[in-house]
This record gives sequence, C-alpha cells and structure tokens, in this order.
Amino acid sequence: MSKNENLNNQNHLNIGGVDVLELVKNYQTPLYVMDESKIRKQCQTFMTSFKHKSVRTEVIYASKAFLNIAIAELIHEEGLSLDVVSGGEMFTAISAGFPASKIYFHGNNKSVDELKLALDHQIGTIVLDNKDELDRLSSIILKNQKIRIMLRINPGIDAHTHEYIRTTKNDSKFGVSIFDPKTLFLIQSIHNHPSLEFVGFHSHIGSQIFETNSFKELAITNLKYIAHIKKQLGIEVKELNLGGGFGAHYTNEDQPFSLESFLPQLLDTIDLTSKELDISTPKVLIEPGRAIVAEAGYTLYTISGTKETFGGKNFIFTDGSMADHLRTALYQAKYHAAIGNRIHDKAEKNYTVTGKACESGDIIIKDIMLPIPQENDILVVYSTGAYHYSMSSNYNRLLKPAVVFASNGKTKLVVKRETYQDLIRNDLRLGK
Ligand code: LLP
Repeated sequence: MSKNENLNNQNHLNIGGVDVLELVKNYQTPLYVMDESKIRKQCQTFMTSFKHKSVRTEVIYASKAFLNIAIAELIHEEGLSLDVVSGGEMFTAISAGFPASKIYFHGNNKSVDELKLALDHQIGTIVLDNKDELDRLSSIILKNQKIRIMLRINPGIDAHTHEYIRTTKNDSKFGVSIFDPKTLFLIQSIHNHPSLEFVGFHSHIGSQIFETNSFKELAITNLKYIAHIKKQLGIEVKELNLGGGFGAHYTNEDQPFSLESFLPQLLDTIDLTSKELDISTPKVLIEPGRAIVAEAGYTLYTISGTKETFGGKNFIFTDGSMADHLRTALYQAKYHAAIGNRIHDKAEKNYTVTGKACESGDIIIKDIMLPIPQENDILVVYSTGAYHYSMSSNYNRLLKPAVVFASNGKTKLVVKRETYQDLIRNDLRLGK
C-alpha cells in the first residue's frame, strides 16, 4: 500500500464517515455515494420548517430526483409523502411498500395503463394535467370509486433558471393556463364528476431556483386564482400544491436561501393573503426533490490519466461519462470536484474532466483547477445526488454505477452495479 492508500488518512475525503478509498475498494468505480444522514437531515429541515400554527401543510418528495427502493423506504421513515410521474416510479414506490395513500401521481401525459395502475393500487391523489387525462381517467374509473384529484395549473410565472428546467411560462407543456377560459370548464367538470373529489391546484415553477420572490409570487397568483374560482364557480379550493424547485449548492456561484427562515415566511404570506382575499386558507403542499438529495450525493471515478491536446487543452480521463453524469452536457451545469485521496494537495492546473463516451460533449466538468493527477487517483464530484442516477443511461453500453449509502462510518449497497449480462437481458435474437 502506498502512502495515499492508508485508510483514514487525513488527506482523504470521508463521506458519511467512510474513507473514500475504502468505498472504492469495496464497491469499485464509477460509484454513486449518498450520505444518508445528510438526506435525513434535509427531510427533517423541510418537515420542521414547513409548519404553521394556522396552515395545514404536507411535504412531498419529488422522486424523479433520485428513486430506488431504499430511498423510498427512507422517505417514508422521515414522514414525507411521495410524488411519482410514471408507471415506473409508481411501481418502484409500491414495491418499496410506500403507502399508496401518500403517493401523488403527476406527469403531463398519463397513459390509460398508468392510470389503471394508479386505480388498482389506490394511489392517494392523481394530479391531472389536462382534459385528455380527465377523459382517459373517466373512461376507466368505476362508479363506486372516489379518487382525490388536483389539477395542474400554469400561472404564467417566469422563474430565473435554465430554460430546460423552467416550467410555468405560457407556452410550457405542463398544466392548463389560468388565463385560458376553458380552464374554468375543466375545473367545473372535475368538480361535478361523481367519482372524483376535486381538492385543489398544483403548480410548479421550475427547478434550481434561488429567489424567494418567485415562490411568493407563485403562491399569491395561485391564491388570487382560488378567489376567482370561488367567485366564478362557487367552488372552494381546499389544497394548494406549490411544487418543488428549491435550489441546491453545486459550486460557490449557487446561493440557496435558508429554508428554515423562508418556509415559515411563505406560510405567513399565504395565510395573510388568503384572509385578505376572503378565502379559507388552503392546505399547502410542497414537492422538493433536488434540495433533499443533491448535496448528499458524490460520484467517485478512477482517473486513468491525462491528455494535453495539440491545442493546449488538458483533459483528465475518468472511467465515468455523460451516461452517469448528464447534467453538464444537457444544461451546462457546473460542478466542484476534488481528488479524493489527496484533498489537501495544491490545485495546480486547469482541467476538463471527461470520460469514456464517444462524444465530444462527454464532459463531466468543463473547467476546474486540480492537483496534477496520478494514475488511479480517485476523482470525487460533489453534489451529484439529484438527477444523476435517475438520468443515467447505458449509452455506449456503459454500465450504470452502483449506489451506496454511507453514514456513521458504515455503508449499505442500495443499488447493485450493472453487469454486462444486464445489458443484454432484453435483447432477442433474429431467430434465423
Ligand atoms: N414537482 C414537479 C411537478 C416537478 O416537475 C419537479 C421537477 C419537482 C417537483 C421537483 O423539482 P426540484 O425540487 O427537484 O427542483 N433534470 C433536471 C430537473 C428537472 C426537474 C423536473 N421537475 C435537472 O437535472 O436539473
């Protein structure tokens, strides 16, 4: 063992109290590591801060950020509800034993099969996106069934975030516009439906948002719409789901606001505005995904070497790729990283970190100052807990990494590393 390989070395990064080289020795790379205590702490922050003396509240974890059986179990243990957007997410949650009554079924294009799955499993709430979904649901729902329904509305608010993860502009594909007169008819028909219980509205402004004002504006606009519905249709909207979007820290450019101070303020604003508008204060729901898991996640890669191009650019080659780290290629997202077995070594050179995919856009980090790496050093990319494992693919027939939970010096494998056999499990021969 060389000097760098001594476990518990001061120059090594620890994740959840486990030395990064121990993680690599036991689980190999590329590897997703989640600090379980950090996830639990974020859940508790949301659960304790999103409370108000006169407003009922509910925190729902947006499972698209990171879902597997173990996280579904953890989320249930922490008392949150769960948002799923597909049959696959729903099936995973149900397989984990997540109580169906606490599941919210979202998505903008639910198929008949997915809706049937939701009805068969008595999913607690279906969040309808549009009239077609209502028609599909009506065609399969039985007379003696009663299902809670929310309607996704689009209040036309522009959140300051990347275009691909912004959702409430007027031309977004999600929900029905509050400015569209047809929305009133849709609300009326949901309300009148004998097998549906219309409970309220859902809206989601976008993701990775750092401005508290965007959330306040969203809440106030929705409340005004609730008052409008009361006046126009005489329907009381009992619940208001404000979606997710709370920003996370990836690099020092990101400054998430304090949830502890903002969430109670948001509820105060909602209570006060409801009174001003002469409506009953609705129950308020939020759906954080990224803010719960992003910062708890680390991706570990083995560095195989470096390459200086003829043009003078310096690459670090890792055993990962855009298949396990898509966000840089897709959103030009920025990340911080370190050499996990030499965290206190001086950063000396600017590198572009890349991987194995056959694609010039296969970039993990575009520009980062790092110590000069040696072969088999471990690169640790921070804040990769959200939308990494869930957006990973088998491009180039690369294997999806394992996922390990680490906390209090112990580790748990929660998703096995894929094998080559997994890659061909659904392939069929031509049969000639
Ligand atoms: N609720 C709804 C209805 C959503 O559409 C989303 C995210 C969330 C909640 C959770 O948002 P969060 O709290 O995680 O920001 N793949 C992109 C993010 C797409 C988000 C889609 N919807 C990324 O990697 O940044």
